[in-house]
Formats: sequence, C-alpha cells, structure tokens
Amino acid sequence: MNERTPDQVAAEAARELQAAVAPAARRRLGALRQLAPFIAPYRGRLLLALALLLLSSAAFLGVPLAFRGLIDHGFVGGGGIGAHFLGLFAIALVWGAASAGRFYQVSWIGERVTADLRSAVYRSMLSQSPQYFETTQTGEVLSRLTGDTTLVQTVVGSSLSMGLRSFFQFAGGLVMMLVVSPKLFSVTLVLLLVVVVPLIWTGRRLRRLSRESQDRIADSSAVAGEVLNAIPTVQAYTNEPFEQRRFDRAVENSFATAIRRTRVRALLTGGMIGGVFGGIVFVLWLGAQAVVGGAMSGGALASFVMYAGITAGGVGVLAEVWGDVMRAAGATERLMELLSAQPTIAAPAAPQVLPASQQARVRFEHVAFRYPSRPQTPALEDFDLDIREGETVALVGPSGAGKTTAFQLLQRFYDVVSGRILFNGIDLRDLDPRALRAQIGLVPQEPVVFSADAFENIRYGRPDAGDEAVIAAARAALADEFIVRLPDGYKTFLGERGLRLSGGQRQRIAIARAILKNPPLLLLDEATSALDAESEALVQRGLEAAMQGRTTLIIAHRLATVQRADRLVVLEHGRIVEIGSPAELARSGGLYARLASLQLVA
Ligand SMILES: Nc1ncnc2c1ncn2[C@@H]1O[C@H](COP(=O)(O)OP(=O)(O)O)[C@@H](O)[C@H]1O
Ligand SMILES: [Mg+2]
Repeated sequence: MNERTPDQVAAEAARELQAAVAPAARRRLGALRQLAPFIAPYRGRLLLALALLLLSSAAFLGVPLAFRGLIDHGFVGGGGIGAHFLGLFAIALVWGAASAGRFYQVSWIGERVTADLRSAVYRSMLSQSPQYFETTQTGEVLSRLTGDTTLVQTVVGSSLSMGLRSFFQFAGGLVMMLVVSPKLFSVTLVLLLVVVVPLIWTGRRLRRLSRESQDRIADSSAVAGEVLNAIPTVQAYTNEPFEQRRFDRAVENSFATAIRRTRVRALLTGGMIGGVFGGIVFVLWLGAQAVVGGAMSGGALASFVMYAGITAGGVGVLAEVWGDVMRAAGATERLMELLSAQPTIAAPAAPQVLPASQQARVRFEHVAFRYPSRPQTPALEDFDLDIREGETVALVGPSGAGKTTAFQLLQRFYDVVSGRILFNGIDLRDLDPRALRAQIGLVPQEPVVFSADAFENIRYGRPDAGDEAVIAAARAALADEFIVRLPDGYKTFLGERGLRLSGGQRQRIAIARAILKNPPLLLLDEATSALDAESEALVQRGLEAAMQGRTTLIIAHRLATVQRADRLVVLEHGRIVEIGSPAELARSGGLYARLASLQLVA
C-alpha cells in the first residue's frame, strides 16, 4: 500500500543520515560516557576481553588466507594437503577458544554493570522524599529499573563487543581485499555502496517498525490489564461488548503494524539475498576472467570472495549495533536522570547528634507550610505547639484541616516554609532525618502489610527482634488473638497474594510494629471508616498499650481517644483554633463542642 519510490527512500535516507550526526544524537551518545564509572572497576576484564577480541578477529581473518594456500599449493601444486589442513584446524581452535573467552568476559561485564546500575538507581529512589513521588510515577521508575537497565546490558554485554568485532571484520576485510587484488577491490567497493547502504537504511526502518509494534502490543495489554482487574464493574454494567471492541481495536492496530514490519522485512531479505549474492556472482565473474587470463590465481580469487563476504557481514552487523547503541544511549540518559535526582530532604553536612533518651519533647514554633505542588494554599499557618515529655496530645478538626500535614512535617518528609520544629531542643533540619525517624513510631491511617509472614511484618519495626519479642508486641497490640487463628499462625503469609486482612487487623499489625520499635515518640493516625464497632474497641485497646509512658501525638477521630488525651488541639484550615483539656473545650462551646455534639470529631 505505502510502498515508496526509490527517490523517497533516498530522501529519507539523507534525512536520517543528517539526524544521525545531528548535535542531539551526539549529545545522546555522550550519555553513554556516564556509564564509565560503572565499567571502570572492571577495567582488567575489559582489557582481557579486548585482547581476546583481537586474537579471534585475527584468526577469523586468517581463514581465507589458509584457503588460498590450500587451493593454490595443496590442490593445484599437488603437495602437502595435510599440512594446510592442520593450519586451518589450528586457526579454528584459536578462533573458537578466543571467541568463547571474549563472549564470557564481555557478558560478565554487561551483567555486572547492569546489576550495579540497578542497585544504584534503587538506592537513589529510596533516598527520595515523598515529594519526588508526587511528580514521578512509580510505574515509570519500575520500567526504567527493568527495561532501561536491560537495554544498557544488551549494549555493554554484547552489542559493543559485536560492534567492535564487526568493525575489525569490516576494516580487516577491506584491507585484505586490497592486498589480494586492488582491481577487484575497487569494483567491490562500488558494489558495496550500491547494495549495502540501501539495505542498512531499510534495516533501520525495520527496527523502528518493530519498536512500534512492541508499543502497540504493550497498549493492548495495558487495556486488558485494566479491564481484567475491574471485571466485576465491567460485568455489572454489562459493558463486555464495549470492552471487547476496545481490545479488538488495540489488537488490530498491533496486527497492522506487524504486517507493515513484515513487508519491510520481506523486502530486506529479498534485497539481501539478491543484492549480495548477485554482487558476489558479478565479482566472481570478473575474477574468473582474470584467473582464465592468468592474471590471478584460483586461490587468490577464492580468498578475495571470502573477504568480500566478511566485509559485507561486518557492515550489516555494524548497522544493527548502531541502533542498539542509540537506544541504550537514550536508556542511559533516563537512568542517569534517576541517579542524579537530589533528595529535597537530606542530612546536613555535620548533623547534630541526638542524646540517647527514651523521652521526646516536640516543639512547633510558629510553623507555616505549603505543599510544593500547591504553593498558593497554606496547609499550616502559625502552628505553635509545645508537647511535653510523656504527654498525649490529640489533633482534631475537619477533614483537610492539616492534621496529617503536621505528622509529615514532624517526620521531616517536607521542610517547613517558616518557623521551626524542635525535637528534644534540636531543629529538625540540623538532624540526620534517619536519626530523627528512628525516634518515631508511626501508625498510619492506612497501614501497609508487606508480602511476608506475620513475623516479618511485625519485625519491620525492629529487624533484629527475636520471635519472643514479636509475639509480646503482637499480644500488647491485641493482634495475637487473630494471628494465632490464621492457618499457619505467625508463619502465615500476609499481603496481596496471600491472606487478605481486614482494616482493623492491618491496623493492629501496624500497632504491634510500633510497639516493637519502642520509640520515644508515637504518631497515631486513627482509622475510622474501615472499622466495625468490635474491631474499633480492639484497636483502641491496642493503641492504649502502645501509648503507655511515651509522648504521643494522635490524630483522633473517636470520642474515647479524645477524652483520654491530656490536651486537645483543634485545627481548622491549617490554623489552631482551640487548645485545652477535653473538659475545658466541651464547656467553651467552640468548634470542638460542636463537632463533639455531632459525635463527629474529625
Ligand atoms: N501531598 C500533598 N500535596 C498537596 N496538597 C496536599 C498534600 N497533602 C495534603 N494536601 C492538602 O493540604 C491540606 C491539609 O491536608 P491534610 O493534612 O491531609 O488534612 P487532614 O489530615 O487534616 O485531613 C488539604 O487541603 C489537602 O488537600
Ligand atoms: Mg489526614
């Protein structure tokens, strides 16, 4: 359908050539240089691989020479066939051994560099503050971590060495043709340009089309993935025919792209066989005349044809490798972006050391804060609060008032815009965030349960805790009673593919985690909607165990919790509107009294 005229092909080829040497492409290739620090530690292996590459290339290029000797002296000359075969055999041995060694060394470097790169990118991601993940899709990070690193691996672990080998093959083949017969060499050079160059451009188009077809397949599986995860909704709305059509469209698209690719591929195969073979026949014909005329020996002609084949093969592989290298350059660029991301929250050059203490005093000093993604809206304003050692302070207020924000700031996931927060008298910004967070136990509103057994899930609070300590914490959090009833008790696998826990059970696991960590400061974000009355009472008792004897800041939704707090802080639109004991506030008839009368604390 859209077969193009040779003129169009040539025009596109010119455009592509221009694009290939354009500054953008050169900059892109420059990205590969950033891999140097990852390869540098394996310098020794790299040199070894290079030496083996030279050796195998030399052996490979020696094969036609050996044939020439065999034909001219072995057959025609009539003597010493055995010696010539021994020579060929020795070349084969060297070639094989050197190739195996090179393949092993280069693949080893590729795998090692990829593993190091993956680990470095992951480390960088783990150090990013939550703000980073507000703008970066985790799915994208994952695909870079797997897809892009694999591209880099292809290049470092095979394409580069293949490219280098093909380059030696190409350059060596050219030189040897020139040595064997300068006249035939000039003819072959012209043929090479006429036949191979168009083939290269077709090959590039083919690669682009294969990528496109891969993308289309990914599209269709994205559609399917989304729908299959929502089967009950699809069926409830009887939208199966609609979804079928949507998927079919995606499938047809990928079919059309695949067919376009196949058409180009068929053309390429035809051109390759016809062009290369035709060219070889032509050179053979010229050479045969020279042999008949006595200007050239039969062996020389045979070796010449072999060198021509070697050269053409080298060019073909080089073209292929070039595409891989460009793609890997793009992948490297993206990976380096992830690697060079600076965490917005970092430890100061010389962090202050927190005195070892089981006490925590927290002071918010006229704190103001706006989320970086919403700089116009203040999330907290003039937030001023002093929480004494061992005190329980409850934050209450309507949804969106800024309660969770106060927790985020206290854990230093964000920095305050003005004012400051002190932990045991030290500004949070003068502390190593990890040292600070080691002092804090958090029970989030929606606790995370990892794909691991109950032991491991609770141990997340203190990785070195023994089984006894884990069970004690689970008992205190009232998690023990449901864990022992699971099929394998504490060894039951929890999480996505394993057992599903209810909201209240998940929360009690999180409380056990915090109790096991035994931190001086406890932050509790109470859950409400997820819990029925019974598990609410259980969670409540678990929480009380956790709060014993430590400073606790709690976002309270339940009247029971609020009653037990030493002080209540009522927030509205990021400002503290009331502060006092529960009894005082109930009497004062303010926002809290109103919320409480509705039984609606948050
Ligand atoms: N990551 C965020 N980026 C931008 N705005 C946010 C973010 N998290 C919360 N907010 C906004 O900040 C305000 C306070 O939110 P939050 O502290 O979660 O309230 P609460 O916990 O009291 O319900 C809300 O207006 C909310 O929309
Ligand atoms: Mg909240």
